[in-house]
Amino acid sequence: MRLTILGGGGFRVPLVYGALLGDRAEGRVTEVTLFDEDPARLGAMARVLADQAAAAGAPDAPAVKATADLDEALRGADFVFSAIRVGGLEGRAADERIALAEGVLGQETVGAGGIAYGLRTVPVARELARRIARAAPDAWVINFTNPAGLVTEAMAEELGERVIGICDSPVGLGRRIARLLGARPQDAWIDYVGLNHLGWVRGLRVGGRDELPRLLADTEALESFEEGRLFGAEWLRSLGAIPNEYLHYYYFNRDTVRAYQEAEQTRGAFLRDQQRGFYAEAGRSGLPAGAALAAWDRTRAEREATYMAENREAAGAGGRDESDLESGGYEKVALALMRAIARDERATLILNVRNGSALSVLDAEAVIEVPCLVDANGAHPVAVAPLPLHAVGLVTAVKAVEREVLAAAASGSRAAAVKAFALHPLVDSVGVARRLLDGYASEHPGLAYLR
Ligand code: G6P
Ligand code: MN
Repeated sequence: MRLTILGGGGFRVPLVYGALLGDRAEGRVTEVTLFDEDPARLGAMARVLADQAAAAGAPDAPAVKATADLDEALRGADFVFSAIRVGGLEGRAADERIALAEGVLGQETVGAGGIAYGLRTVPVARELARRIARAAPDAWVINFTNPAGLVTEAMAEELGERVIGICDSPVGLGRRIARLLGARPQDAWIDYVGLNHLGWVRGLRVGGRDELPRLLADTEALESFEEGRLFGAEWLRSLGAIPNEYLHYYYFNRDTVRAYQEAEQTRGAFLRDQQRGFYAEAGRSGLPAGAALAAWDRTRAEREATYMAENREAAGAGGRDESDLESGGYEKVALALMRAIARDERATLILNVRNGSALSVLDAEAVIEVPCLVDANGAHPVAVAPLPLHAVGLVTAVKAVEREVLAAAASGSRAAAVKAFALHPLVDSVGVARRLLDGYASEHPGLAYLR
């Protein structure tokens, strides 16, 4: 089985490779091709992966190849992971900074920052999808690239059901809730639905019984886990559901905006500096064996420990628990998905796929985040109960914004891009929307296509 990773010099690649190293089963990945435009990042990652293989002592570790030639990377691939970051972390830092300067949320995927990121990424993702369709028409494409729902929808125009978007946040949330309720995550049916980074757990069924009401009634249990502390027991009871942590940006918008404005650095700027250090260290000549992996491990641990720190602080939620830290994210979802497809092993996973008729309030092409049955034929969304009106409001408003981003990226229309910003629930004026676009356009060369 051959896996190609687009964005193969990216920081999360060792998570994927680590998961592959642990996979002993038949039909596992035996060859990994890393594709990246940046040879220095590629080289650093190849070193980390070599350290990982050596540390695992696995003689049959998946072979790693690195290339800067896209078609060569794609040819013969069974699976393609798309994990690119258009504009890099410098771009993310600008997305965050420009929005915060306008007094609205500056964040990687939500609100103005997510729209700017989407406007830069969609044209690139569409082009990648076309190249994949030509060079590897039978490959399954797993999209990690954020904003994951929007980017998956853009790629699905070309690839249809062959592209599936993933995120670690719903799985992590479901796992934390199951654990609190004393259930094994694999025994629980998690009733989760929404868009990527905009969904709710409305129930958790074990043996046919919904156990979530029991948790919602228990303040102490609620406030013992990440989302419980973030949103507070009272608000969770009012909602009757547990929102994805990203909904903190909606329900506590003013508080997060203020906390982010007061922070020394945005998350993107912190990660940019941190990674600059890592890539410089891992790329140094004469590095002893194991040193690149050690540098990566250190950087990753610090990154995880500081994840959403300002939100927790704004909510008075304190530090993270060990169990909250152990997210076991992307790589596990991606591996489970690959296995289910490659071996035709039925699995239920929460994924980003075209809606079909699963969520009645959206059209069939809309990519949503929903439990899916996965087998050799791909991921099939299950029909879910309708969302309550307040959630329908957010989901449809944000999907409308995504559609404007897709339209702007296809037509190059500035007016459509302004409309995307202006229609977002977290952008409070058309005037602000216009200034945001001006600010982003002057910062990002990747937005020069808008006129
Ligand atoms: C979670 C989300 C990802 C997001 C990441 C940001 O894992 O699911 O979509 O990219 O957090 O984490 P970072 O450490 O980059 O702020
Ligand atoms: Mn995500």
